[in-house]
Amino acid sequence: MSTEAPTTSLVEQINAVSAEIDAATLTNAAEAEAFRIRFLGRKSGVVTDLFAKMKEVPGERRKETGQRLNALKQQAQVRLDAARNDLAGSPKSTASDIDLTLPGRVPAPIEPGTLHVLTQTLHAIQNIFQGFGFFVAYGPEIEDDWYNFTALNFPPEHPARDMQDTFFIEAPPPKGRGVVLRTHTSPVQIRVMEREKPPIRVIAPGRVFRNEAISYKSYCLFHQVEGLVVDEGVTFADLKAMLHAFAQAFYGDDVQMRFRPSYFPFTEPSAEVDIWWEDENDPDGGRWMEILGCGMVDPNVLENVGIDSERYTGYAFGMGVERQAMLRHDIPDIRLFYENDVRFLRQF
Ligand code: PHE
Repeated sequence: MSTEAPTTSLVEQINAVSAEIDAATLTNAAEAEAFRIRFLGRKSGVVTDLFAKMKEVPGERRKETGQRLNALKQQAQVRLDAARNDLAGSPKSTASDIDLTLPGRVPAPIEPGTLHVLTQTLHAIQNIFQGFGFFVAYGPEIEDDWYNFTALNFPPEHPARDMQDTFFIEAPPPKGRGVVLRTHTSPVQIRVMEREKPPIRVIAPGRVFRNEAISYKSYCLFHQVEGLVVDEGVTFADLKAMLHAFAQAFYGDDVQMRFRPSYFPFTEPSAEVDIWWEDENDPDGGRWMEILGCGMVDPNVLENVGIDSERYTGYAFGMGVERQAMLRHDIPDIRLFYENDVRFLRQF
């Protein structure tokens, strides 16, 4: 009797393992490999171990037990082969658990972005002037008193130098160098004229900063495109013709624009240009929107950079990019450009 105990227990173990083999989940390559190692592994596989216990089985039961064990091994092998077959035939089969065919788990598909509406507007303005033969020049956003004010013929007491209008990084002269976040793109005029001889025909796009009272049409940060033409015999008529040609190219042939006399220290005479902004809700049917300042380059400015003002004349203009984007796309508030609300940005 005592010899039967291990035999019984071996049969019990075989039955238990058989049940385990049936219950195993084999849904991917990793599980199939774990199954193979657990049951059929040559060193410590469960079935292999059971074969090792055959020597404890008494002779008369060996044959039957051996047959049960062989059947068990085959059961494991059949399940493994079937699983491998399924996996190989299914598109889910990969060397790892990663299923490249599943749809992404991000909540919404990732959409490609677009250029900001201001960048688009800037490019459109730039394209028009490049078509008229203008080169593009750039200058730094942090300037000193010379470039931002003095070389541009600002009298020392001019209100634009006031701390109220300007973001000073260093105190204005005589205390410091008057380092400022540039308040306009006009300093690029000086930088270009310092290094180049006439004929000059450039535009200078860029960011400018002012300590503004913020409203629907003014913000502490905005963009300008400066223009400068210096040559022999340049007149105010050339300036008017150029700006009119620009306005027609940008807004269409039926654009309504007007020149208003104005004042800038660095141009003489000076003007501001307004574009008519049609608006059904307005009792007057619309209103004039100022888009730029312009004028003939003041002879003092030419002399400041060593250009002979008896021989050469020039014109300059500086246009706001935000205002033009507002006019072109009927955008009611300048602050929308800087809020980065995708519901706004997506429209362009
Ligand atoms: N720099 C002026 C401004 O920012 C605009 C301007 C540029 C005027 C060039 C005349 C000539 O308001």
